[in-house]
Amino acid sequence: MINQNKNMRKIFLNRNKYLRISETIRLWQFCIVIFVTCLIYVFPAYGQTTNLITVKANEIKATVQPTMWGVFFEDINMGADGGIYAELVKNRSFEFFKPMMGWTILGKPLTEGDFLIMNRQKMDTANPRFLHITLHKNSKGSIGLNNEGFRGMGIKNTLGYDFSVLCRTSSDNIKMHIELVNGNGENIGSTSVASTNTGDEWKKISASFIATASTPKASMNIWFEGDGTLDIDMVSLFPKDTWKGRPGGMRADMIQMLADMKPGFIRFPGGCIVEGFDLSQRYQWKKTIGPIDQRQLIINRWNFEFTHRPTPDYFQTFGLGFFEYFQLAEDIGAEPLPILNAGMACQFNSAELVPINQLDPYIQDALDLIEFANGDSTTRWGKIRAGMGHPTPFNMKMMGVGNENWGPQYVERLKIFTKAIKEKYPNIKLVNSSGTDPNGERFDYLNDELRKMNADLIDEHYYRRPEWFLANANRYDNYPRNTSKIFAGEYAAQSDKTVSVNNKNNWQTAIAEAAFMTGMERNADVVSMASYAPLFAHADGWQWTPDMIWVNNLQIIGTPNYYVQKLFSINKGTNVVPALIDGKAIEGKDSLYASAVIDKITNDLVIKVVNASGKEQTNSIVLEGVKKATSQALVTTLQSGDLDSANSFSAPQNVAPKESFAAIKGNKINLTSLPYSFSVIRIKM
Ligand code: AHR
Repeated sequence: MINQNKNMRKIFLNRNKYLRISETIRLWQFCIVIFVTCLIYVFPAYGQTTNLITVKANEIKATVQPTMWGVFFEDINMGADGGIYAELVKNRSFEFFKPMMGWTILGKPLTEGDFLIMNRQKMDTANPRFLHITLHKNSKGSIGLNNEGFRGMGIKNTLGYDFSVLCRTSSDNIKMHIELVNGNGENIGSTSVASTNTGDEWKKISASFIATASTPKASMNIWFEGDGTLDIDMVSLFPKDTWKGRPGGMRADMIQMLADMKPGFIRFPGGCIVEGFDLSQRYQWKKTIGPIDQRQLIINRWNFEFTHRPTPDYFQTFGLGFFEYFQLAEDIGAEPLPILNAGMACQFNSAELVPINQLDPYIQDALDLIEFANGDSTTRWGKIRAGMGHPTPFNMKMMGVGNENWGPQYVERLKIFTKAIKEKYPNIKLVNSSGTDPNGERFDYLNDELRKMNADLIDEHYYRRPEWFLANANRYDNYPRNTSKIFAGEYAAQSDKTVSVNNKNNWQTAIAEAAFMTGMERNADVVSMASYAPLFAHADGWQWTPDMIWVNNLQIIGTPNYYVQKLFSINKGTNVVPALIDGKAIEGKDSLYASAVIDKITNDLVIKVVNASGKEQTNSIVLEGVKKATSQALVTTLQSGDLDSANSFSAPQNVAPKESFAAIKGNKINLTSLPYSFSVIRIKM
């Protein structure tokens, strides 16, 4: 019995031992399965790609031009009127195609003919129309005008507003009561002005007042009081918080966004607006300077360009003209780059041409512009600039002839311009158009011709899908060096297709542009300048999307594309140095794109890395030629795991730069790049 029990115990113990062994085996098996699963599925998604990026900080490849990253301004999408030009009154001079557009008569005029649009015709060809009003004794304060503003007027509580009007009256007792009203018709600020008998003279009267509430969609009423006739023109309302506090100036928040980018240049005034639908509507800089009531308004070509986005109230008042553009460039530390008409209207529209034997006035405009910008106050045009308040020259260094023009007709005209300009001003660099597309027959033809002409700068435009930007990050690797330089004058990744209303400023487009821009930066000996286009869009008045900065009457948002541009621009450095994987430029291996510069002024090394894949990657960056780096690098990252992410008025910082630090051990950084991320790594050397 005892033996039997002993045997049983032995069997029991053996069985336990067996169970423990098999449990251990099963545990091991489980661990192995987990490990293998991690290996297969998890690790590749989390930091498994370990490329070795070598940055050779002491091997200078090219100089980054101070102009490298700039901005392209065009009056499109209500960019100027209704945008950076802070005037709140729409159709202030009654010169729109429909003279009372934007205006409504308030109350019931006593007799037919109490409100008449008059046309001075030859007496004032720049500003022919005005409004002639007859007031009657018993219409006190019950007759008036309302101006709706540009999709309303953005009014800010406690801010001062400057009202002014040019008027002429035969009576001594005319009063105008100005009031701002919100959407409910409630008064949110008011003032009054009075006019004595001015006889035949026009007189400017003005008054300032403080708003008592904020609203994005106010409008302005003018109530009339008195007996007699009153002529009014140039009815104006400006906020006091303009850029640099200049009366009649620009919307400060919009200009601040540009200043924050520290752009190397500002191109103006466009774009197709330079060419015009036909030659009569081309941009003529001489008509945009001097007293603002003498700047002849024209229809904005974007008014009717797209039947799917008509903007019938879009005109160019030129309150913002060439003097103001030059001043703006100076304010934000950017080189001015005006583009002039080459004697050709937009080839997508009328395609009108100036006959060669009538090109002289166009060329003269170009020569006079150089004198306006650079001549001293003893010259004819320099004196006009000085008279406008800028005695010192603007020191313009470059100028464009023609926007998106193509074909032999362009080359023929361009040669004549070039000869005349270079003969008189050999140091002015000229920007020449390579047409509308970055490839194809038209591009190839112009590219050849312009290079034969030894063009200073060739303006390339690309509005393409994000995939194109990724696939073409190496575009400039094999471009000819030491000849004509490239100005990538207009580019933007299109989430749908060019001129589609469905294009979004989403992260997919912005990260593709960032990847492409590493290729531009790497080839800074070829690419001297680049600018995203278009720049601004008003949420209630746009024609073209995508756009870099969106506004409504009170708010402003930088798109992810804006932040990409800004990060490149404020980190442009002075010299390109190699950033390599396996001795090769980084342009798509494992969806990585990278470039590096040193900044000789701050003694920093700046590395830009785009991870265009949906997987997190940890890559080692080895710094060569850095004698003594700090122990940490500042990493500024733009990232979103969702390519469709965008910024909006309610979430303006959805995709915005975030700062962190990465340790530098020895000469190595282990950089974790989140899925779909763009990182700028700044190292003090
Ligand atoms: O940026 C919008 C338009 O695109 C520009 O006016 C024109 O140059 C291009 O076709």
